[in-house]
Amino acid sequence: MNYPHQISTLEQYDIAYKTSIESPEAFWDSIARNFSWRKKWEKVLDWNFIEPKIEWFRGGKLNITENCLDRHLLSNANTPALLWESNDPEEHHRVLTYKELHFKVSQFANVLINNGVLKGDRVCIYMGMVPELAIAVLACARIGAVHSVIFGGFSAQSIADRLIDAHATFVITCDGAFRGNKAIALKEVIDDALVACPFVKRTIVLTRTRQPVSMIKGRDVWWEDEIRKVETHGNPECKAVEMDAEDPLFILYTSGSTGKPKGVVHSCAGYMVWANYTFINVFNYHPGEVHFCTADIGWITGHSYIVYGPLSAGGTSLMFEGVPTFPDAGRFWDIVDKFKVNILYTAPTAIRSLMSFGLKPLEGKDLSSLRVLGTVGEPINEEAWHWYSDNIGKGNCPIVDTWWQTETGGVMISNMAGVTPGIPSLATLPLPGILPVLLDENGVEITTQEASGNLCIKKPWPGMLRTTYGDHERCRTNYFVMYPNFYFTGDGATRDMNGNYRITGRVDDVLNVSGHRIGTAEVENAINMHVGVIESAVVGFPHDIKGQGIYAYVIYSEGTHELSLVRQDVLKTVTRLIGAIAKPDVIQFVTGLPKTRSGKIMRRILRKIAEGETQNLGDTSTLLDPTVVDEILKGKEV
Ligand code: PRX
Repeated sequence: MNYPHQISTLEQYDIAYKTSIESPEAFWDSIARNFSWRKKWEKVLDWNFIEPKIEWFRGGKLNITENCLDRHLLSNANTPALLWESNDPEEHHRVLTYKELHFKVSQFANVLINNGVLKGDRVCIYMGMVPELAIAVLACARIGAVHSVIFGGFSAQSIADRLIDAHATFVITCDGAFRGNKAIALKEVIDDALVACPFVKRTIVLTRTRQPVSMIKGRDVWWEDEIRKVETHGNPECKAVEMDAEDPLFILYTSGSTGKPKGVVHSCAGYMVWANYTFINVFNYHPGEVHFCTADIGWITGHSYIVYGPLSAGGTSLMFEGVPTFPDAGRFWDIVDKFKVNILYTAPTAIRSLMSFGLKPLEGKDLSSLRVLGTVGEPINEEAWHWYSDNIGKGNCPIVDTWWQTETGGVMISNMAGVTPGIPSLATLPLPGILPVLLDENGVEITTQEASGNLCIKKPWPGMLRTTYGDHERCRTNYFVMYPNFYFTGDGATRDMNGNYRITGRVDDVLNVSGHRIGTAEVENAINMHVGVIESAVVGFPHDIKGQGIYAYVIYSEGTHELSLVRQDVLKTVTRLIGAIAKPDVIQFVTGLPKTRSGKIMRRILRKIAEGETQNLGDTSTLLDPTVVDEILKGKEV
């Protein structure tokens, strides 16, 4: 056994699961002892799902960076903490040992202090996948500032919305970011966002691409200059600020069924315990192994399984700046070969995209170091699962299909590598501490073993969200009202006779495009902003690579431009307002939308049409004007 709380056999899983459900306080008490605390907790758990109020390890004091860095210095100072592979295969990779990472985090934490950042301040981080992104995240945590990382693909408007919502007064960014053959002008996007955010006091800009940027006097400073100042002024040490177990660690915005993303708030202690516990147990991580999570730190997967999970376990985490297809579709396999990666954790969409290039990109690549494979973000289809297993895992690697969400902080339902069996396209069993239930449409728990329903969680777990930033009521109404006394995931699922879960997808108006959550209302709002658009309705449809594509039905007023140009303009508008990830794959101009007499759009019908259905559209008798359906069917491009 490598970690005291690592599960190595099926029997151990059964015992751990049973104990965690029957005596959660005793169970998590014994696990939390494996961390470094300034002061021990007084009460393990206090909760209700009505307010909701969730408190783990009440009274405990700690700093997560002492758990991710300081405590490894004694015996693991020279172990690589972060490995970094550039977008450019010719550029030298970087290795930061625990000692070096500790030094750099302390140094940058001092930069933050010098620039006036205080405990509790919100700091927005908008950077490419460079080691300094992880350093910035950890430096915030070190001084108790609440980081809010925004994925580098979001637009200026999206950033401004998030800055305003969190009232973030500090921004950390880069001049630009390399992704494939592009250099994305991040600072320029931030400049546009900051026009609407005069409350931002300071922007710290890291040099990466060396593209020209405008630096505003009094507001913008260079990362490198600020580091020089702390280098010349004394002690590189930065003592970690003592945090309460329940103090917020970070905010991460995610889409819901309303038009406005919500700021999911995670706490210091519970999140740490959960990220660590799930990392060690889902991947069966052994010290010394190289863990390669291909996500971006802008998403929860990067937070939990590039930064906090691996580092709290003293592990070696590999960060990749680029994209899987640059300079060619063999890039992931080159990286696995080069760094002798042991655990590869990626998204089904990436697997499907790489599958489409055939087996040639694998030729000459030694993948024998791989021991465990993982997937996350969306259901994995069986074809992709087998391709991954046969060609990447060579039939020797368990695949963990990990179901979880931004709100859950870490993996919730998944097989555990080498411990509990995997089943193609099933997330399988809940992790210890997780009590999933399926509810029918009346909110009644389905107690038969084989079942299909809406997936809820019955009891709190340490890594669950605590609130939505600045609006606790929103947290309550989003997750705890539809099914009182349960946390509602927004997903549908089935359960087989052995208790294995298969996630069937979102049951709310949230799309999952390439493993990214996008609210249909957000996309509609953006489309409706375009001049001439009267109304729109957005639904998902099956997409070979992305899992789900975005299909937009748009009512457009008569205008002087031809529709092909309007289509491009609408795409441009969505890119400007949200980001390229939300661009519809299909735009169909229509004259009307199917609505009920009360004015509600019948998305069910639109979804069926988008899926290619022409006959069985279900009951259309309640429609105000059933002829619009025929019009839409006639106008559909085949
Ligand atoms: O619908 C589920 C899907 O992704 C949603 C969560 O998205 P997000 O908060 O962006 O987090 C993604 C990374 C954790 C879920 O509600 N999802 C995630 N993992 C799986 C999945 N669907 C099926 N199988 C999975 N393994």
